[in-house]
Amino acid sequence: MLSKQVCALSRRAYCSAVNLASDIKNARPFSEIPTMSFFKVAKGNLPGGRYYKKSMREMQQLFYEEYGNIMRIPAMLGRPQFIITFNPDDFETVYRVEGNWPVRMGLDSLTYYRDTKRQEIYGDLGSLFISHGEKWANIRSIANPILMQPKTIKRYVAQIDDIAKEFVDLMRKIRNDKSEMPGDFSNYINTWSLESVTAVGLERRLNLFDEKTHDENAKKLIKGIRDFFEMTVEYDGKPSIWKYYQTKGFKELLKVYDNITDVIMYYIELAMKEMNEDNSSTAETEDSVLRKLLRADKRVAIIVISDLLLAGVDTTASATLNTLYNLAKNPEKQEILRQELFTILPDKNSPLTPEKAKNMPYLRAVIKESFRTLPIVSGSARMTTKDVILSGFHVPANSHVGMQPVFALQDDKFYQNAQQFLPERWLRDQTEGCPRAGTSNPFTFLPFGFGARSCVGKRIAELELETLIANIIRNFKVEWHYPDMKIKSTFVNIPESEMRFKIIDV
Ligand code: HEM
Repeated sequence: MLSKQVCALSRRAYCSAVNLASDIKNARPFSEIPTMSFFKVAKGNLPGGRYYKKSMREMQQLFYEEYGNIMRIPAMLGRPQFIITFNPDDFETVYRVEGNWPVRMGLDSLTYYRDTKRQEIYGDLGSLFISHGEKWANIRSIANPILMQPKTIKRYVAQIDDIAKEFVDLMRKIRNDKSEMPGDFSNYINTWSLESVTAVGLERRLNLFDEKTHDENAKKLIKGIRDFFEMTVEYDGKPSIWKYYQTKGFKELLKVYDNITDVIMYYIELAMKEMNEDNSSTAETEDSVLRKLLRADKRVAIIVISDLLLAGVDTTASATLNTLYNLAKNPEKQEILRQELFTILPDKNSPLTPEKAKNMPYLRAVIKESFRTLPIVSGSARMTTKDVILSGFHVPANSHVGMQPVFALQDDKFYQNAQQFLPERWLRDQTEGCPRAGTSNPFTFLPFGFGARSCVGKRIAELELETLIANIIRNFKVEWHYPDMKIKSTFVNIPESEMRFKIIDV
């Protein structure tokens, strides 16, 4: 599916590449891109300022209203100049010139931590998440065959299904007398996400659903990952002085990185010890993600697993909550999905197998429509490797560009009846009269990013998400009886409301 999408996108890219060189001289100059002055950025981010304590989504709204499709934020406080575009035609242009080793401006705080504080581990090795150039390419070339191969992921289907079934049991236990989930249900979903990703990455069940059996390290990890998202937006997403003076808050972020690193090292050491003691290794266990990573190098394993946990827990948890919310708000769509699931898996407790999982088009359409209506990441970024034209302006090579599809995804111009939750728009066999997603600009919809640098955990995320949603919908009718959900928008959009879904046994 991904490769088909990428092929379609590449063909499009090739066709529109033809005009580019001759057009550059007719473009408006770079200096005319609407620019926010240094003074305005600084004042806006101070207490009482226009952008002070605003979420990523609120800032996007303000920028869009003030500057339109494209804007420029000047270099400041150790950060390079940055272009922000909301125009999907620009996304296509930028991805087209991303080069073989795409650069995504990222988390300088994490780079600083890894380069200076924990040299002994991270040192000269790259990272999936934050490195660039050859270092990134080396580690990505180790990770790709391990994490992106359907064969490797298939071996986790049964385990991920078991975890989902345990979570369904947990939902039965934690519902109140109104049959509603507790206010902190998001935290439960987060533990499910961590339990699932560590089952794959660390080859270990952390038993997070049982307060009595899980250890302090697991708790530390969950808190660390949540703090990571909330704090990095302050130090990497907004102007900050930490490169010149380390504030108390920044030191706390370094502590968060330390905690996460220590816990991961603890689990990797444990896994290595168990593997050494375990002589019953079979072709099957030899195939596991962790064994393959450890075969490459212990430090590589620590880095890749850290990146997987940082990038993979809150994203998948939010995607699950958003999908459940959309299904609860659209009971008729939920019913269509339930019918599909019962046709393929008539007994609600029967296990999901890779063969059966392949045959659920409506489930996949529901998840896609959820990504469209409630996107998980706020946008992506790339450095241009050539001069390009963005929204009519000349943008030189080596410019950092943030691409934010948030408004296009809600725009009737790209998605007919955009405000409606219509999974059918993604189905190959179209329902008569239903708008098609295929007719819109495909660059508006890249939930897992694009090209060589796209999400390396996509297959794991899809497996987890599909499996849990399928198990929940086979067991419960899910309802929502509260005001519309609010989103806390950091680099990842996380539900902020209490997620008190009502569940009724099917
Ligand atoms: C629904 C869940 C998820 C969404 C929506 C998501 C989305 C994304 C996006 C948009 C990117 C940036 C891609 C680009 O720049 O083109 C990314 C990168 C990444 N994701 Fe995910 N992700 C999800 C789950 C996961 C999971 C479960 C893992 C790990 C198990 C993971 C690991 C990563 C890593 C390591 C990167 C950096 C890749 C690189 O730069 O080479 N993600 N993800």
